[in-house]
Amino acid sequence: MRVAVYPGSFDPLTNGHLDIIRRGTCLFDRFLVAILENEGKAPLFTVAERKDLIRRCTNQFPTVEVHSFSGLLVDFMRRVDANVVVRGIRAVSDYEYELQMALMNRELSANVETIFMLPAVEFTYVSSRLVKEVFRLGGDVARLVPPLVLESLKARLPVAVGGQSGASVTRSSDPVRRGTGRR
Ligand code: PNS
Repeated sequence: MRVAVYPGSFDPLTNGHLDIIRRGTCLFDRFLVAILENEGKAPLFTVAERKDLIRRCTNQFPTVEVHSFSGLLVDFMRRVDANVVVRGIRAVSDYEYELQMALMNRELSANVETIFMLPAVEFTYVSSRLVKEVFRLGGDVARLVPPLVLESLKARLPVAVGGQSGASVTRSSDPVRRGTGRR
């Protein structure tokens, strides 16, 4: 059985991630999306929220499973009996960081192989960080994230007055999140 792990922060899931997931399901029997539990990064969505969003956005792919992990990725891979890591590479600038991670993972566990996949060209500039920034400033991200993620962004983030996103709020409806500085 071919099992792959697609690890990341997914804060939030973008259409670029979704494109890699769709492509990955064509290559592997089980495709495990693995969310890093790293509260140090001050995420916008909790791990439980991200899990729920990814599950709902991938429910058309029966071989996708959504997990979370803390600690080393290679230890998680051992626990789920997988030896292939999938990472998406958008541009040459991603490569250096990805190379370091892939070689470090190989150093930690010799049988772990990393496979780099390319998203569709229209998503090569999309990142979770930019999506949040553009949305916060009132830009339209509707083509960059799944509709469910867009809804969650609208419910969570304040939007600049006069923004293009269609969300007319100027303050988040979530008092806990309001005004926090997140990446
Ligand atoms: O989406 P991201 O934030 O670029 O994903 C990075 C991730 C989660 C793949 C990476 O930080 C990771 O695997 N962290 C787990 C800790 C670990 O195993 N570190 C050593 C290998 S670099």
